[in-house]
Amino acid sequence: MAVLNPTRDVLEEAARHLRAGGLVAFPTETVYGLGGDATSARAVAAIFDLKGRPKFNPLIIHVASIEVAERLVQMDERARYLAKRCWPGALTMVLPPQPNSPIQPLALGGQRMVAVRVPDHPLALALLNEVGRPLAAPSANRSGSVSPTRAEHVDASFGRSLAMILDGGQCRIGVESTVIDLTREPAALLRPGGVSIETIAASIGELTTGGGTRSPGTQDSHYAPRRPVRIGVEDPQPGEVLLAFGPNPPEGFCAMLNLSESGDLVEAAANLFAYLHALDRPEYAGIAAMPLPERGLGLAINDRLRRAAAHRG
Ligand code: TXA
Ligand code: MG
Repeated sequence: MAVLNPTRDVLEEAARHLRAGGLVAFPTETVYGLGGDATSARAVAAIFDLKGRPKFNPLIIHVASIEVAERLVQMDERARYLAKRCWPGALTMVLPPQPNSPIQPLALGGQRMVAVRVPDHPLALALLNEVGRPLAAPSANRSGSVSPTRAEHVDASFGRSLAMILDGGQCRIGVESTVIDLTREPAALLRPGGVSIETIAASIGELTTGGGTRSPGTQDSHYAPRRPVRIGVEDPQPGEVLLAFGPNPPEGFCAMLNLSESGDLVEAAANLFAYLHALDRPEYAGIAAMPLPERGLGLAINDRLRRAAAHRG
């Protein structure tokens, strides 16, 4: 039975499981989250895999306090003011990362900004404190189905593929957090949610709406390699490096990094952004990516590679 009564022992076990790269569903005041260590690319890849998301949408990073948030993101006056008024609570703020942030690029969907919040739920806070790491946590449902507000909903969604679901009963708010983008002035509303727009506007002034049109993956701050990217490649062109996948990569490239020699798509997703960065060097003429299967995380990896190829193709 994956639904667990959250005793002290269970909390400690959940924290150990998370530190080892495992996933744990936990209650927040909004909806249940599917949590994984945001500093582990493997754990973040496992979240996308389990949710069955066809794209690497950026994930909300959950932390235990304003102090922890300050270490991960650059908070301006507006952010500090809102944090004091609304945290813990159903407000997610998108902010620039601190230099050398330990958050994995995969958790950010390859963007250079971080969505962060302090959840207002004793169990969520206890878990975050026990783990001592930021947790990436999208709503704990399979992609395309409704967000879970009870532990049983999470269990029904994932069944045996999720070992630990901490039972905190019914979520108090029942809709997701409000997401605002504070990398812009004025701030933009990306998703309405648990904290009202009026509350936010009373603190930092009017928000622009329609911010959602600047959807994840299309922003300027979204990471795309500077080198041209070719996808579905089998044969090299002069000066190209290869982003390989599987046991038999073609030869003749200047250099090669293999996303997963064994053909494991979760491993490939965990390596994707780090390898794109590593191959994006001026001495190379371009990056050639091998075809990946259009299933599981292969869908999201191919989606991201297609965007990178279109960016300068
Ligand atoms: O209430 C909630 O927010 C719940 C609980 C578990 O905390 N979480 C949740 O996460 O709803 P998710 O992944 O289902 O929704 C994340 C939303 C998406 O609309 C996403 O586009 C936006 O937040 N988002 C996350 N990170 C972002 C980023 N770096 N930049 C822009 N938008 C971001
Ligand atoms: Mg969701």
